[in-house]
Amino acid sequence: MSFEFRHIVFFLALLTLVACRKDVESSSETSILKLPENVIDYQTSIPSYLDRDLILLQDNTPVDNVQDNNVVTLGRVLFYDKLLSVDQSLSCASCHQQQFGFSDTARLSDGFAGQVTLRHSMALANIRFRPGATFFWDGRATTIEHQVLQPIEDPTEMNLSLDSVVTRIQSTSYYPDLFEKAFGSDEVTRTKIARSLAQFTRALISIGSRYDKGLSMHRRNEDFSNFTAEENLGKALFFNPDKGFCSGCHYTDLFIMDIPRNNGLEWEVSNDLDVGFEEVTGSSLDFRKFIAPSLRNIAVRPPYMHDGRFSTLEQVVRHYSDEIHWSVSLDNHLKSSDPSKAKRFDLDDNEISAIAAFLGTLTDDEFLHDEKFSSPFQ
Ligand code: HEC
Ligand code: HEC
Repeated sequence: MSFEFRHIVFFLALLTLVACRKDVESSSETSILKLPENVIDYQTSIPSYLDRDLILLQDNTPVDNVQDNNVVTLGRVLFYDKLLSVDQSLSCASCHQQQFGFSDTARLSDGFAGQVTLRHSMALANIRFRPGATFFWDGRATTIEHQVLQPIEDPTEMNLSLDSVVTRIQSTSYYPDLFEKAFGSDEVTRTKIARSLAQFTRALISIGSRYDKGLSMHRRNEDFSNFTAEENLGKALFFNPDKGFCSGCHYTDLFIMDIPRNNGLEWEVSNDLDVGFEEVTGSSLDFRKFIAPSLRNIAVRPPYMHDGRFSTLEQVVRHYSDEIHWSVSLDNHLKSSDPSKAKRFDLDDNEISAIAAFLGTLTDDEFLHDEKFSSPFQ
């Protein structure tokens, strides 16, 4: 090998090395963390014009993980950090996007290495005020603290062992300080990760919609002066037991659910084999019972239901109007006076559009763009 040639080879090797190093740097330090000097205040109080007592009764905050602004801040960073997935391609926010009410517009979300999730992503707003013991569509997780670590290890989601997460986090430049502020020690543990992710999730409270504005000025059953006639009709129908009885299952002013229920979605023809809560309890009486997230911001986050089968709110309401499928576990609200038959509410087209329009009043633009819930990375 002539001197010149060796020289060129060496030079090329050096170039490749430099290029590779750059790659490593840009994938591990994906982006720069930018947090304000003073810690953000995440405390929210539920105003008295909402059914506050009923809402507060559902608070699932455990006594050993009471909200603290520094812990929520750490949770926010973890929520948006791609370090939590094996190939650093996904964060929690990949499937729970703020502008879509912390859900995702895909029927099933893209997970690790081209795999998709088994169910549609759930909207996270107001999860704090859902009674404990039933998280995920099928109610299989009993606490949020327990729930939030599952996507990290799930092979179709982030596919990373919790030990590796702890090691990775420990070796970053920014986490030790955040752990110190949150927990008084920079030691990283899975319990602390779970607690802070749970606290950030619980901090996502959405109570700034036109419905809230209306309630601040009127009684719930009066027409709201900030609603159109169609929206007021939809509101009246939503609370009417003879018109779908939406409020019988989606209750409190946050429109949450208390226990998994079967709302009569068709499964035979579509061959949807998801048995829901039955998988958890082993009882056929729980066949196809599911939990729905808070209906706040529902209009901005199609598609709907655990499998994302409906792409519009009109389709959802039409389902309740005349497509309810009977099964033993069908919820009593949706059985007719002959319990072996499903109810038909037979809503007309105006009523269907009106309920859909009312659901549109639950959109909270401030929440969907609030900087304190947005990515802290730039
Ligand atoms: C690949 C997409 C994906 C990623 C990444 C992901 N999730 Fe989810 N999340 C889902 C899906 C899908 C469900 C519903 C799963 C089910 O019911 O089986 C869900 C459900 C949840 C729920 C339950 C909500 C409820 O109302 O019961 C919480 C809380 C949650 N995710 C938080 C997180 C956190 C925190 C992270 C990051 C550590 C995360 N998710 C990462 C897709 C994802
Ligand atoms: C028997 C209880 C029950 C009644 C009554 C009921 N729902 Fe539901 N709703 C559910 C359940 C359970 C789910 C979740 C089902 C699933 O995903 O498999 C759900 C899901 C939804 C969703 C989709 C939520 C999401 O995040 O994808 C919307 C929207 C909705 N319901 C609106 C309504 C409206 C409007 C009415 C009245 C016309 C109504 N519901 C009546 C139980 C009920």
